[in-house]
Amino acid sequence: MAPVRRLPYISPGWRSFYGVRRHIGSLLLLLLAVNMVGGQIRYSIPEEMKKGSVIGNVAQDLGLDLKRLRSGRARIVTGENVHYTELQKDKGTLVVNERIDREQLCGDITPCSLSFEMILENPMELHRITVEVLDINDHAPVFPNKDKPISFEISESAAVEVRFPLQSAQDLDVGQNALQNYILSPNDNFILKQHSNPDGRKYVEMVLQKPLDREERHPHFSLKLIAVDGGTPQRSGTVNIDVTVLDANDNIPVFNQSVYKASVLENTKTGTSIITVNATDADSGLYGHITYSLSKMKGSVAEIFTIDENTGTIYVSGQIDYEKYRKYELRVEAKDHGGLIGTMIIEVTDVNDNAPIISVMSFTSPVSEDSPPGTTIGIINVKDLDSGDNGQVNCRIEQNAPFKIKSNLRNYYTLVTDTVLDRESVSEYNITVVATDAGIPPLSTKRTFHLKVSDVNDNAPVFSQSVYSAFITENNSPGVSLLTVGAKDPDENQNARISYILENTNIGGAPVSEYVTVNAESGVVHAVRSFDYEQIKQLVFVVKAQDGGSPPLSNNAPLRAGPYRDRRKQNRPRAALWGRNAV
Ligand SMILES: *[C@@H]1O[C@H](CO)[C@@H](O)[C@H](O)[C@H]1NC(C)=O
Ligand SMILES: *[C@@H]1O[C@H](CO)[C@@H](O)[C@H](O)[C@H]1NC(C)=O
Repeated sequence: MAPVRRLPYISPGWRSFYGVRRHIGSLLLLLLAVNMVGGQIRYSIPEEMKKGSVIGNVAQDLGLDLKRLRSGRARIVTGENVHYTELQKDKGTLVVNERIDREQLCGDITPCSLSFEMILENPMELHRITVEVLDINDHAPVFPNKDKPISFEISESAAVEVRFPLQSAQDLDVGQNALQNYILSPNDNFILKQHSNPDGRKYVEMVLQKPLDREERHPHFSLKLIAVDGGTPQRSGTVNIDVTVLDANDNIPVFNQSVYKASVLENTKTGTSIITVNATDADSGLYGHITYSLSKMKGSVAEIFTIDENTGTIYVSGQIDYEKYRKYELRVEAKDHGGLIGTMIIEVTDVNDNAPIISVMSFTSPVSEDSPPGTTIGIINVKDLDSGDNGQVNCRIEQNAPFKIKSNLRNYYTLVTDTVLDRESVSEYNITVVATDAGIPPLSTKRTFHLKVSDVNDNAPVFSQSVYSAFITENNSPGVSLLTVGAKDPDENQNARISYILENTNIGGAPVSEYVTVNAESGVVHAVRSFDYEQIKQLVFVVKAQDGGSPPLSNNAPLRAGPYRDRRKQNRPRAALWGRNAV
């Protein structure tokens, strides 16, 4: 590992980049429309920084104060790479949480970056943070079999200009730190010729310049092939080349094509043959027998293909995953004496083998029934590892429910209310979000959100009758119950707790409470005193039903009550009652 730069450096472009996105980004306008704000910041750091090294002051760069980070429960979300960084909420800084090895993270891909989002709640904000990881020259070029010399048996009659392909070295670094050049140790017979593969990687051949004269020099000699990168300090790798000069008149094999191309479907079964290469040799008999092999390749790629050493047929022998490698470049060696290397390019065709992945960034339940249409209840992130149409994802809501799903930032969707909700009609919803890709056949993933609607005191108690009346025989005993009033409130809990209250009125100069009372909880109306038909024939008063909401809501019901003349006075005992709720 090269010395680490202590101070992270922020790429000069970020400030303006952020500024532009923040002020004119059309995406942002869209976000504002759904009560969300968002910004983007970008940092550049070298790989291999120590745990705890500061990447950037996120709070400052986004113009947020530390209180807001705390109150909004700021956190980093999404991506399988979130573990590399950590948000220090108390300082507002983003720091390295785990060693970042650029080679492991991105391989050959440049630029190499980590992207994730910082989410804040109340109100919801989403900020995209991109950390570009810069390469340091921490790898030297390495030959696959550096301890085993490359060996050639070359006929002394071999013509000038005959080429001998050499192994390529690998350097895991990228850009200037990657392999730049090959050098051959000084000698009289060979020069190096460098070529570039279609993918930009270099390979070399040794070209005979001056015929090998067996009599003039030792039949065995060694050369050195050195691969160097362009980093500072420069790193290199070396392999020996052993040459044996043969007396016999021998010909080297020749491939019938200079480059073979084939394509293979992702997930092809092992054992499937892909292509057969063919080299021929002008010699006949034993000297003409050619064997094929695949040159050693980078890491796991070696296990994905095998070649039949006699027929030259290449077979699948491992998992072909388009999401890991889109193209393989194999070097096929055909050998009798000496050797020849042919190039084989196998392209992988994507198959729709990954269903979209739905991650929930944020979900708020319950939502108040008085929330205006457009209230954000959730943010989801949708990803699909496939490419092209196979990775194009569309989201919708399965049910016919009063919600909408809107696309915001790339791969982000917000779930919003589409109308005003009414807890009294529907108190909870199961909202199923379906993410479907555009592959053939398409793959989809579902995620269900269980949303509760919380109550608001939006209903007043309603009496079961519009008018109540009750008459009893006069000379009743005080305290007798006259009737029961009842009201219902469709709200919930405290908002539905009803109290019955006697409205203050005057009857014949005395307050109504001298005649009747109402039980606040049960709604039972009692006579306070004995009624005398000669004195009073009918009481008219009002009972109010009031709920426990804040503020409370209420309704009134008018009541009529009074005595009948007691017929026992005429020796005709009979109590007459009328009125539906009379007791
Ligand atoms: C290989 O190529 C030679 C010459 O082009 C041809 O005669 C031979 O049949 C080929 N072999 C295979 C297995 O295709
Ligand atoms: C929502 O789904 C749960 C679990 O499947 C179920 O118990 C509940 O009844 C559903 N609610 C509604 C309103 O459909």
